[in-house]
Amino acid sequence: MTDTDAVTRFEAGLADVREAFGSAFGEAADEQSLRAANAKLTGPEGTLTKLMKLMREVPGDRRREFGQAANALKEEVAAAFDGALVALAQAEREAELAAPHIDVSLPGRRPKPGRLHPITRVTIELVDIFTALGFDVAHGPEIDLYEYNFDKLGFPPDHPATDMQDSFFVKSDGARSMLRTHTSTIQVREMLKRKPPLAIVAPGAVYRRDDDITHSPMFFQIEGLLVDEKVSFADLKGVLTRFAQRLFGPDVGVRGRPSYFPFVEPGAEIDISCVFCKPWEGDAARTAACRVCKGTGWLEILGCGMVHPVVFESVGYDPEKYTGFAFGLGIDRIAMLKYGISDIRMLYENDARFLEQIG
Ligand code: DAH
Repeated sequence: MTDTDAVTRFEAGLADVREAFGSAFGEAADEQSLRAANAKLTGPEGTLTKLMKLMREVPGDRRREFGQAANALKEEVAAAFDGALVALAQAEREAELAAPHIDVSLPGRRPKPGRLHPITRVTIELVDIFTALGFDVAHGPEIDLYEYNFDKLGFPPDHPATDMQDSFFVKSDGARSMLRTHTSTIQVREMLKRKPPLAIVAPGAVYRRDDDITHSPMFFQIEGLLVDEKVSFADLKGVLTRFAQRLFGPDVGVRGRPSYFPFVEPGAEIDISCVFCKPWEGDAARTAACRVCKGTGWLEILGCGMVHPVVFESVGYDPEKYTGFAFGLGIDRIAMLKYGISDIRMLYENDARFLEQIG
């Protein structure tokens, strides 16, 4: 390679760089591409860096001249790079300022605190009352055997009494399964599992083909069962009276009316004095006008009775040795009485405006 070659190449190189760097920097849309463009010139493999190395081949008498030209160009490139960096930062800031503003003084959107559903609250309250009286809590599946829902509770096969509980059946191989129509299935399950003495309450969802302002196809019950030697109807009355008074206050009266359920004998329905017109306060005119108890002063709240010997036999308990009582009540009904709710469906619509009024 001759010296003249080097001179030509050096000059051409200088000219190329001088022509290219301005637009290369100008076109860079962000800092990263700007830095990349700069590295192509001044990086270890950059065009300018290579030119500097070529200096050695330039004839001695022209080195000074080319050296000065190259250095001047280097400085020009460095200044242009710094200028382009500043311009990019400025453009970015301007875009930020032009964008929609965040108003930091606006009050934030508060997350609404959740709360327990009225059914859950009443369930907890009922379970608390009964556990304080010594009952354990038991649970069972919502899809259960027909056998546990009806047969083992003393319903004769296809007895008209099963019509009281229009049911949802579930197709299954072999055993007949259904959505339980009452929590009484859990009585059966617990007695098959355990030996007396036992005292349980069992809350849960139950299902019937029923739908109007006081019936929902799904609703909640809590079942009670106590089995031991020498349990009497007086024990049942004592437990239910204590329960009603803890729930609705010490003035509430309790009365029983004979009733029929296949799994108890005798069976009864329990009424409490009306918690809306409060007959114990002696305002007879208020009771006469009360629409909730229809002027009777009483509200029906549960079914109960002494466990039928047939049920004991179906679970392998000796009916000569053991007696017991059972009861079942609608949790929805209690919630409706407690919070003055007139339509059961409101409990299941999940309208926050309704749910927020309760608790
Ligand atoms: N299982 C009954 C129903 O759903 C309620 C009931 C009545 C439960 C009497 C009982 C009882 O344990 O003894 O209508």
